[in-house]
Amino acid sequence: MWMSSRAEAVPGSVFALMDAAKGRARARGLDVIDLSIGSSDQSPPEAVLEALREATRDPSTYRYPLFSDTAPLREAAAAYLLRRFGVRVNPETEVLPLIGAQEGLAHLLLGVTDPGDTLLLPDPGYPPYLGAAAVAGLNPKPLPLLPERGFLPDLDAFPANLRPRALLLNYPNNPTSAVADAAFFAETAAWCRARGTLLIHDHPYAELTYDDYRAPSALEAGLDGVVELHSLSKTHHMGGFRVGFAAGDAGAIAALGRVKGAVDFHPYLGIQRAATLALGLPDVVGRAGAAVFQARRDALVPALRGLGWDVQWPQASMYAWARVPGLQDSVSYAVRAAEESGVVVSPGRAFGGRGEGFVRFALVQPPEVLVEAARRLATTQVETRRP
Ligand SMILES: Cc1ncc(COP(=O)(O)O)c(C=O)c1O
Repeated sequence: MWMSSRAEAVPGSVFALMDAAKGRARARGLDVIDLSIGSSDQSPPEAVLEALREATRDPSTYRYPLFSDTAPLREAAAAYLLRRFGVRVNPETEVLPLIGAQEGLAHLLLGVTDPGDTLLLPDPGYPPYLGAAAVAGLNPKPLPLLPERGFLPDLDAFPANLRPRALLLNYPNNPTSAVADAAFFAETAAWCRARGTLLIHDHPYAELTYDDYRAPSALEAGLDGVVELHSLSKTHHMGGFRVGFAAGDAGAIAALGRVKGAVDFHPYLGIQRAATLALGLPDVVGRAGAAVFQARRDALVPALRGLGWDVQWPQASMYAWARVPGLQDSVSYAVRAAEESGVVVSPGRAFGGRGEGFVRFALVQPPEVLVEAARRLATTQVETRRP
């Protein structure tokens, strides 16, 4: 009775199905290895935790934070963008703290679009994108990310007269682990500018990169018509803290600020202090965190390949994206794998129609557990005829 058409339009999630399969595996006495949730299992750097502890003892942090109180975090974000990507932003007008990238995206869409506007968004993609589009009353158009194109979209496939209000991308990518280079962002930003389209780049995996690979920023293509969402959830293992920042086009940042003014008072000052400190840490801290996930990739991907899996070699993110073995659809395979072996992965279908045929492994367990997961999956029955 009280459900608005906007709320009703938010898609349900396949993850409830996986949760039920996990419950059945536990009921059978199986020891569950859960690789379905992309939440870092690492702790934030000790200095960051200490900054937060200290802030909770400082009564001046207990009040509502005003915009002026966010200056240290905005300045730290600007310094990080300059140090890491050579991108210069004005911390007064081109940066805004977020309560996570997910919050930022939902409110940015409310700030920069009107109901009925078209939003191009990746398929497969992070599931809350569709929910945020529904809340804003948008017309979402999927951008197919296909393996033969390295999971990069083919913008030329769209009619030349298409004028979407916004285009949403995310590299390093969840769920495919694909990466994009600076030339790709330059071309995409030019495509967007020619159409009056805002380019939104969701960048929570900016520092979760392996070997010598370093991810570029979409803002290297210029700030005009580009907004990037950064998060400390993965880069500093601070998912539960709910903190990030938006940076880019001053007009779009102002629109986001206007909407947020009606919704929240910025993150708790103690969390802002912790995030400010985190953004100023030397790069070696971030590299050490990424190395943990790289070692997991180095364990899981060869183990899966050795068992005949067709799996991408990730250069970044915290995922491995693999083709479903045999002829099952991704949901039936993932449910069966959970029930038979206790290994829980995310079915590709959960990320959109173009995710069908794949499953996503989150690298959220130590290397030996990932190898054990691959070994157990070898015993999962595989359909060789279409069911
Ligand atoms: C692509 C993508 N965007 C955003 C988020 C959420 O980021 P935050 O914790 O900053 O809201 C995630 C988390 O998994 C993600 O994968």
